[in-house]
Amino acid sequence: MADETIFKVDLQPVGRRAQVAAGTTLLAAARSVGVELQSICGGAGTCNSCRVRLAKGVISPPTTAEKDELSAEELAAGYRLACQAVALSDVCLDIPAESLTAPQRVQVEGEDRKIVLQPLVSAVDVHIAPPSLTDLRSDLTRLRSVLPSDNGGVELPLPVLASLAEKLRRQEWSTRLVVRHTAGRRQIAGVLPPHSRMFGLAVDIGTTKLAAYLIDLESGETVGRAGAPNPQIAYGEDVISRICFANQTPEGLSLLQNKVVQTMNHLVAELCAGVGSPEQIVDAVVVGNTVMHHIFAGLPVDQLGTAPFASVVSEKLEIPAAHVGLSLSSGATVYLPPNIAGYVGADHVAMLLGIGIDQNQRTVLAIDIGTNTEISLIHHGRILSCSCASGPAFEGAHIRHGMRAAQGAIERVRIIDGKVHTHTIGGVPPVGICGSGILDAVAEMLAANGLDKRGNFRKDSPFICQSGSESGFVLAPAVTTGHGSDIVITRQDVNEIQLAKAAIRAGIEVLLQEAGLEHRCLDEIVIAGAFGSYLDVRSAIRVGMVPPLPRDRFRQVGNAAGTGARQMLLSGERRRMAEEIAQRVEYVELASHRAFSDWFASELHF
Ligand code: FES
Repeated sequence: MADETIFKVDLQPVGRRAQVAAGTTLLAAARSVGVELQSICGGAGTCNSCRVRLAKGVISPPTTAEKDELSAEELAAGYRLACQAVALSDVCLDIPAESLTAPQRVQVEGEDRKIVLQPLVSAVDVHIAPPSLTDLRSDLTRLRSVLPSDNGGVELPLPVLASLAEKLRRQEWSTRLVVRHTAGRRQIAGVLPPHSRMFGLAVDIGTTKLAAYLIDLESGETVGRAGAPNPQIAYGEDVISRICFANQTPEGLSLLQNKVVQTMNHLVAELCAGVGSPEQIVDAVVVGNTVMHHIFAGLPVDQLGTAPFASVVSEKLEIPAAHVGLSLSSGATVYLPPNIAGYVGADHVAMLLGIGIDQNQRTVLAIDIGTNTEISLIHHGRILSCSCASGPAFEGAHIRHGMRAAQGAIERVRIIDGKVHTHTIGGVPPVGICGSGILDAVAEMLAANGLDKRGNFRKDSPFICQSGSESGFVLAPAVTTGHGSDIVITRQDVNEIQLAKAAIRAGIEVLLQEAGLEHRCLDEIVIAGAFGSYLDVRSAIRVGMVPPLPRDRFRQVGNAAGTGARQMLLSGERRRMAEEIAQRVEYVELASHRAFSDWFASELHF
């Protein structure tokens, strides 16, 4: 007779809970509530793509397949294959991001950490006596008269004053006044309809994409997240080409600035739809690398293009939102945390804050992978940071069949028993390959002996075929693809990955050398960024992008810069901490570092 016992399977961080009969695999349990895990081998226990971590409860002992696929350390840390393990009690599972399939990957996901709410703004609902023939006081005087404990010290920026008369009359003299408190100053940041919600905006301006968050400043809740490509891409793929465009084109800088602000205003409109209006956004935090930061603020970038890559400003900035063209509350201010040096900007400061280095005494390597990759080594109170040009290959650019991480992109590749298995985002026929898939493909080719150390195809490899006029690794033959053509990795594609991974690894090695450390001293490697969230760490180790350490020393944190920006929106204390982190960083300039080019040359090999 069938076992009628029912167990609860709590799926985190997705937040779904399944109820399944005893004997049901964890993979089937997840699927029963619509949580799709990767399962490239179809549940045979041979692809290691459905890995989950047991956080609570009891599950079946590891199968032979699990012992083959997972290391002893991984098993000890609770990692299991969802297609093999079954629940023996109510359980809670922690699902790594790379084990999830997603309809479309956006770079706005990041860890939410609980912090003490201390926003720089507060709100008070007031009713103001309207003017009459016997009371001719000005609108400002009457507003000041109802502000608690105001001694005439509250400032009203001119744009707030300009709209004050109309708003007070439209709102029939009842209003929610938002006051911003900074360093002994009080300023009206918004004149809102009574009892309306008070929002903040956090934006991470990446070289390739923007991530924006709408935050309720009273509850701390993230009300919405939205992402968009950085429209400046049309004027240059990386920071150097944007600098050239800004310098060589009349009005180039303001064109780039307008483009990014326009996109931010669209994101604001999207985020506010259904929950309020942009006028309710009374505070903002914007982070980006030094070039994105300068362009957003309208600062010249010429000097950032040549050594010694000096920024105009590295201190924090506070700019009225209206000055940069952001359509928020007329009194809203944009806070830009300090930059570090070179291209290591406020986004890296935000990332370091977001991953909680202030609460951590361990030796940590933090890597934010993007078109430009920023790396920090935190050890015994020191923070050593550098930036390397890793290029857009992991965004799918410069790759023959590369594409962004969207529906139809091959995101996982495994070679099992001599056969190539792929998984696409959305589970539809493949139309291209995104960063995590490219990395997997190169790693699997290496493991299957299809590539030599220099990245050349081995002619005798069964995986290398002639596709058109050149040879390549056929990931998906024409009959299986969404467009009827082969999807192939070419020698040039492998070369792009070699350049990107060598730049990142050389940066890591230089920082370790500067600190006098070896890989094994690293307690944790934190990988941030959109691509970093979804890459398979085993593939990253196999191609040599990161040091070969046990899987449980790696933590993939999503958009940690966005997390840090949100924290700064919610807490003046977190802003102070970010400023302190920026002060502490010891910047290492790779362009002039004696060991960087040697490391880079040797890391080009697999
Ligand atoms: Fe579990 Fe492949 S689906 S190992």
